[in-house]
Parts: sequence; structure tokens; C-alpha cells
Amino acid sequence: MFGVLLLLGAAVLGGYMLLTQTVFRSARCRGNAAMGGKTVVITGGNTGIGKATALHLARKGARVVLACRNRTKADAAIADIQQETGSSDVVYMHLDLASFKSIRCFTETFLKAESRLDLLINNAGLVADGRTEDGFGIEFGVNHLGHFLLTRLLLERLKEAGGGRVITLSSMAHRWGHIDFEALAVDKHLGTGGYSWQFWQAYCNSKLCNNLFTHELAKRLRGTDVTCYSVHPGVVRTELSRYVGLWQKLIIEPIARLLFLEPEAGAQTTLHCALQEGIEHLSGSYFSFCAVQEVCARARDDAVARKLWEVSERLCGLS
Ligand SMILES: NC(=O)c1ccc[n+]([C@@H]2O[C@H](COP(=O)([O-])OP(=O)(O)OC[C@H]3O[C@@H](n4cnc5c(N)ncnc54)[C@H](OP(=O)(O)O)[C@@H]3O)[C@@H](O)[C@H]2O)c1
Ligand SMILES: *[C@@H]1O[C@H](CO)[C@@H](O)[C@H](O)[C@H]1NC(C)=O
Repeated sequence: MFGVLLLLGAAVLGGYMLLTQTVFRSARCRGNAAMGGKTVVITGGNTGIGKATALHLARKGARVVLACRNRTKADAAIADIQQETGSSDVVYMHLDLASFKSIRCFTETFLKAESRLDLLINNAGLVADGRTEDGFGIEFGVNHLGHFLLTRLLLERLKEAGGGRVITLSSMAHRWGHIDFEALAVDKHLGTGGYSWQFWQAYCNSKLCNNLFTHELAKRLRGTDVTCYSVHPGVVRTELSRYVGLWQKLIIEPIARLLFLEPEAGAQTTLHCALQEGIEHLSGSYFSFCAVQEVCARARDDAVARKLWEVSERLCGLS
């Protein structure tokens, strides 16, 4: 009996250790580029990974613009960041990525008010049901299309600064993503169905778009000194699953408490792509655990990446 218990205990401990060395692993950013005098835009910087990223960059002396949809939440985050870092150079600008009008309004305001942009961190994201103001599926619309338009409208300012970077939060979930252009043309969404588990499929599809977007953007940036990266932040305890069904929350929550990373740890790979010098030749690549990672062929398919770019341009009214 005692032997069996011991064996069981060893198996549980071994399983736990294996998980914390693989899926739930973390790594620390060692990049230390100077940020004084530099300006950063972080979408969804009011909570989770975005807030932890903003805090670190503010501590390093960057001017940080939190591009968020809710002023109350953004102001609370700014107060926290100011208190922890002493920085008074963190500001809110309204941005709702579920509205082209809001994105255009944000970029107009930003370009008028801010003379430079060094880092654009496309961090906001969600798993949810619904549609954007312009009728797109919310995950495709916010996680991919909104960031696509935002990046396009800010690209010139990034080029002016010299050495600018675009970092887009993807996820290891991109591996389960698919892109069905025919369905997209009909539904204005990549993903169907109102069940909570179907939101996850649409989420994976949108995260695959994040990788393909970065892959294509890097090509289009060749010859400039702006570079771009996509990131899997790790599996992190945030508000990301706030819109999923109750039973899913009941499953996720205990595992999250036991194994998920804290947002501070979840920000490390984004920070690596922001602060590590000498990674410019890796532009277009996908990073996790503060290192470049191989992606499956589907996430770096030249033809699909190009098509997604062209379709996205058309959908946002850029072509
Ligand atoms: N957590 C993980 O384990 C994990 C794993 C892989 C990838 N990621 C990626 O990491 C990124 C950050 O997620 P998180 O885990 O930190 O989630 P989170 O805590 O839910 O934060 C998401 C942020 O996105 C913002 N947002 C959502 N819809 C928006 C919109 N229409 N316009 C502007 N902002 C919007 C949210 O604003 P509100 O607070 O106002 O809603 C919030 O600030 C996401 O792209 C996610 O896909 C996370
Ligand atoms: C903004 O966030 C606050 C605090 O969480 C919430 O009470 C409020 O309803 C939100 N506003 C909008 C427009 O969603």
C-alpha cells in the first residue's frame, strides 16, 4: 500500500515537473536596450500581459501609450504603473479594435500628438462570441484585422524613428488554426458557431493570422530598418477566458492556479522581442520562451500569407 502511494506521489510530482518544463515553462528576458526618449504603443495595455509589459517598459524610461477601449480600466492601470515605477510618462489613448472608425480616430490623434513611434505592441486579444462594429467575427476582427489596419496606419511613423519594431501577440494555439478564405468571404469570420468551444477554434484561426501577418510584414519591410516578430507568451493567468462558458471556467481555474504563469512572467517574450539587440535578422519569426521557434509550414506559407494580406487590405478599405 505504502509502495503504491509512493509511486503515485512520484508520478504526480514527475508529471507536474514535466509540465512546468514544457507547456508551462517560463524564461527571463535578458534584453536591455535603452528606452529613454522612445515611444511605445501597447494595445490592451490595461490588464494581463499587456499591463505587465507596459510596466516594465515604463520602468525603463519609455513613453508608454496604452491604447485601450475603456478609460476607467486604463486610468486604474496607469495609476498602478505610476505607483510601481515612478514614471509619469504613461498615457491613455482611446482605441477600440472592434471598430475601423475608432482605429482611424486613434491613429489620427496619435500621429498629431506624438512625434515618434519606436515600438508597436499588438497585444490586445480575446476569446469571445460576437461581431465587430463593421460586422466581422470578433476574434478575426480584433485579434487580426484591427491590428492589421492599426499597423498599416502607423508604419510610416515607425519607419521615421529608425530601428522600429512591431510585436504581435500570437499563441501556440495558432498550430490548431485554419484559414478558409471562402468562408471568410461569406461570413466575414474565420470560425463558425455560437458554442463556447467554437470560440476557441475561431481564436486559433485568428492567432494563425497573427503569425502569417508577421511573416508577410517582414517581407514588406525588407530594405527598411523596421523589423517584426510574433510571440507566444506562455500559458498565462489573465482575463483571457472571461467570456467562455461557466463549465470551461470551472476546468480552467484550478489548472490556472496550479500551473499558469503570472502576467509578469508572461510578458518576458514580448520584452525580449522589444529589448534584445541583434535579433533584427530574425524579423518575421515566431518567438516563445525568449527564443526563436520553428513554426509549422502552415504558419509561414508564403502564398497564404500574401493572400491574407491582400484580403485584409480589401476588408479594411485600404485597397
Ligand atoms: N493568457 C495566455 O495564456 C495567452 C496565451 C497565448 C497568447 N495570449 C495572447 O496574449 C495577448 C494578451 O492577452 P491576455 O492573456 O493578457 O488577456 P487579457 O487579460 O484578457 O487582456 C486582453 C486585453 O485586450 C483588450 N481588448 C480586448 N478587446 C479589445 C478591443 N476591441 N479593443 C481594444 N482592446 C481590446 C482587453 O481590454 P479590456 O480589459 O477593456 O477588455 C485587455 O486589455 C492576447 O493577444 C492573447 O491572445 C495569451
Ligand atoms: C469600463 O470598465 C469599468 C470598470 O471595470 C466598468 O464598470 C465599465 O462598465 C466599463 N465601461 C465600458 C464602456 O465597458
